[in-house]
Amino acid sequence: SVYPDEHIASKTVAARIATLIKKKQEKGESAVLGLATGATPVEIYEELVRLHKEEGLSFQNVITFNLDEYYPMQPDAKQSYVRFMDENLFNHIDIKRENIHIPDGTLAKEDVANYCIEYENKIGELGGLDLQVLGIGRTGHIGFNEPGSAPNSGTRLVTLDDLTRRDASRDFGGKENVPTKAITMGIGTIFKAREIILMAWSRKKAPIIRKAVEGEISGNVPATYLQLSENVEFILDEDAASEL
Ligand code: GLP
Repeated sequence: SVYPDEHIASKTVAARIATLIKKKQEKGESAVLGLATGATPVEIYEELVRLHKEEGLSFQNVITFNLDEYYPMQPDAKQSYVRFMDENLFNHIDIKRENIHIPDGTLAKEDVANYCIEYENKIGELGGLDLQVLGIGRTGHIGFNEPGSAPNSGTRLVTLDDLTRRDASRDFGGKENVPTKAITMGIGTIFKAREIILMAWSRKKAPIIRKAVEGEISGNVPATYLQLSENVEFILDEDAASEL
C-alpha cells in the first residue's frame, strides 16, 4: 500500500500492531513481534509509546525479537541497537525486560554460532513471530541479510556490505569505525513470520524498492525473496513508491 506520507503510514502500522496486541490479550496469549531498527520505524515506536501513555495500551503480554545487532557491539554504545530500542520504545512502555530479545553483540567469537541457534530456537518455542516489521537497506538487505544471503538462511554472523557501512558511517563518525560484521536473523527466519511488513520512506529508497518489488528474484537483492511470500505487505510513502 502507498500512503501520502510516512507519518500516516507509520500510524497505520502502529495501529495494526496495537490491534494484534489487544487481540492476543483478549485470548490470554502473548504477541510475538519481530522488530527493526534504523530511521524507518522510529515514528511507529513513537506512536506505540503514545498509545501506551494516552490510551493505556499495555505491552505486558508482548515478546519481542529484534532483527539484528552490529558485531562486536557493547549495549551501552551510542550506536547499539539495544540502546536504540531502549530509547525509542522499551524505556517508555510496560514491556517486561525478560521478554525483550536483541542479538548479543558482546559474545566471544566462539560462542556466536551456538547463540544464533538458540535465538532461532527461542522464536520457535514461543510459537513463531506473529508479525515482523522490516526496513530495507540500499543494498536490498532486510535485517542485515546482505547480497548473497540464502533464502533459507537462519540467524547467523554476517559480513556487512561496503555500501551498508558507508550508510552507517555518519552514526559512527567515519566508515572505519563501523563494525565489519553483524548478527542477523536470516531470510528463512523472517519468512516464518505469519505476517511481514516492509516499510520504506523517501526518494532515496525508490530505486531499491523498485528492484525489491518488480525486479528478478535473486540473492543479489535479498529483499526480492519477499516476492515469494504471500504474507508480505510493502508499506510505502509516495516518494519511496515513485519508481514503481
Ligand atoms: C540497517 C538495519 C536494517 C534497516 C536499514 C535501513 O542496516 N540493520 O534493519 O532496515 O538499516 O535503515 P533506515 O531505516 O535508517 O533507512
